[in-house]
Parts: sequence; structure tokens; C-alpha cells
Amino acid sequence: MSAGLPARKRVAILISGRGSNMAALIAAAKAEDYPAEIALVLSNVPAAGGLAIAAAEGIATATIDHRAYGRDREAFERAMQAVLEAHRIDIVCLAGFLRILTPWFVGHWEGRMINIHPALLPAYKGLDTHARALADGATEHGATVHFVTPGMDEGETILQEAVPVLPGDTPETLGQRVLAVEHRIYPLALRMIATDYTLL
Ligand code: GRF
Repeated sequence: MSAGLPARKRVAILISGRGSNMAALIAAAKAEDYPAEIALVLSNVPAAGGLAIAAAEGIATATIDHRAYGRDREAFERAMQAVLEAHRIDIVCLAGFLRILTPWFVGHWEGRMINIHPALLPAYKGLDTHARALADGATEHGATVHFVTPGMDEGETILQEAVPVLPGDTPETLGQRVLAVEHRIYPLALRMIATDYTLL
């Protein structure tokens, strides 16, 4: 750690898939003045592509397969919580993590857990946001980083950025435009909350 800089917050990124937002956070956290370090990448899917990317970056990875816990969501989350505590995690970033979290887990991380959603919340909560925006004839779409609360995609917005919907867009072309925004605003939002949290 450089003299004069406060200790970096220890961040866990929770993923279920390819991990492109995770990679954007890892890249941003390499900056010397970034207020957070990526201490752990945790996946509920053993084959998640992001795990290999994180390991190649020298970041600790863990897999907790939710299928081993059947319908017992809290047992799955208690297993995650134990790993997060073992790594002394301060902040959790959900990045394409496809499990619904219980009030128990969300309550534990309240104010310290954030998510990226591919829409301009409160519009288009849930899945298939690009197709739904196109079906509605929306003229703009975008991405939102928000705090996680028990209601899905309902927590306070930290950062949001819009993109235009262009003639001829498909869910894929629109999704690519939104994803580029996601990769920019997620590292900015984490910087903001890690800095504020440092001040607490
Ligand atoms: C992103 O579009 C994110 O907004 C959503 O899930 C997708 C994850 O993509 N929550 P990636 O795994 O970060 O590439």
C-alpha cells in the first residue's frame, strides 16, 4: 500500500457466467489510487467462464454450487457467507449472479452489496431487458448500478447511464451498446461506494 492512501476495501465479486463486468472491475482495481481490491471471485456455477479469467489474474476464486443445497437457499447462502468472512470481505459486487438472495443474506450486506442491471431502473426489472425495451419501442435504454435490497432490482441507484436505441437494433446489438456502458459505470460506482465507506 502506498503511503497516505487509506486501506483498500476488500471486494468479492459474485458471478454465474462469463464475467465481463467482473473483468472490468478487476482491470479498474489495478489503478494505484483505486479504493478497493478484488479479493475474491465467487461463483455458484462451477463452469462459469469468469472463474478462469479471475484465476489467471491471480485472484482467489471459490465455487459454491447451489444445486448441492436443493431448495434450502439459506444453507447455500450460509456457505457463501462463511467464504466471504474467511476472506474478510467488506463489499460484495453482484455481476451476473443469477440467484435470488434471501432477506437474511441481503440484510447482512445492506449498504455494502451492489448490483449491475442492464436497464434504466426502475424500467425493466428482471430478465430479457433488451428485448422488452425494443418491443416497447423505447428510444433509450441503459444500465444501472444500485444497492441490493430484498426487492429484486429495487435498491437505491448509485449510477445510471443511458444509450440510444438505434433503428434496426436487435437485442444483441442493443445489448452490446449497454454492456459497454456497464463496463464503464460499474468500476465508477464501486469507486464511489468504496470511497464513502472508507470515510465511515
Ligand atoms: C450483465 O448484462 C449484467 O448487467 C447482468 O448480467 C450480465 C452479466 O454479464 N446482471 P457478465 O457476466 O458481466 O459478462
